[in-house]
Amino acid sequence: MKFSVFHTPELTPTQNAADCAIAIDVLRATSTIATALSSGADAVHVFSDMDKLMHQSEALPPEKRLRAGERGGSKVEGCDLGNSPLDCTPELMTGRHLFISTTNGTRALQKIQASPTVLAAALINRKAVVDYLVEHQPETVWIVGAGWEGSFALEDTVCAGAIVQSVAERLGCSLEELIGNDEMVGAISLYQQWKSNLLGLMYHASHGKRLLRLDCLEDLKYCASLDTLNVLPIQREIGTLVKHAVVAHAA
Ligand code: MLT
Repeated sequence: MKFSVFHTPELTPTQNAADCAIAIDVLRATSTIATALSSGADAVHVFSDMDKLMHQSEALPPEKRLRAGERGGSKVEGCDLGNSPLDCTPELMTGRHLFISTTNGTRALQKIQASPTVLAAALINRKAVVDYLVEHQPETVWIVGAGWEGSFALEDTVCAGAIVQSVAERLGCSLEELIGNDEMVGAISLYQQWKSNLLGLMYHASHGKRLLRLDCLEDLKYCASLDTLNVLPIQREIGTLVKHAVVAHAA
């Protein structure tokens, strides 16, 4: 396996998609998507365009759907939810389809949607992502950070480092064998520096600061915790993510 990190959707090559592509938006879209599926949502449909979301979600009756919209960290008017993973309770999510559009995270997912395998990763479901990679060992893996409006984001980069560090440990191989670009080296170094204080790193992140101004400290705490949800969002068809079913192997 060779891992390359791209810090934003804009920096991600448009050609030669990898065997496996992973979108990361720790604050907060991929944390929210993972939580929604873990709480029983049937599927998550991602949109960059709010009007398309409104239109396509009309296909389902109100009791089967939820609309989540976020711009600039705040809830979009007319939606049922903003982008807080803490709102994704089993009471609300079970048996429903979540239609979601966010400032950057859903764009990152759309950018990689042509890859044969598309996953959504966050710190909270890092182990589930690593389990998949260790089992399937795709040759090339792209990790795409959502960033913020075209700029680098610390929290997405540290998560990329956390994934690859754990893959190396699980496979017992050197990091050098897994590194596909310079950004990957930077991501691993960032993780090694901050792994015991991921919440502290969020306080330095520009979007972390934005969310704190919006009174979202609990979201930050939730999104900064590592390996707390055993759920892997995987693209079933373009724009639709479902919970990956783990196949039990006979002993
Ligand atoms: C995004 O897509 O930029 C984020 O998920 C924003 C947020 O924190 O809601």
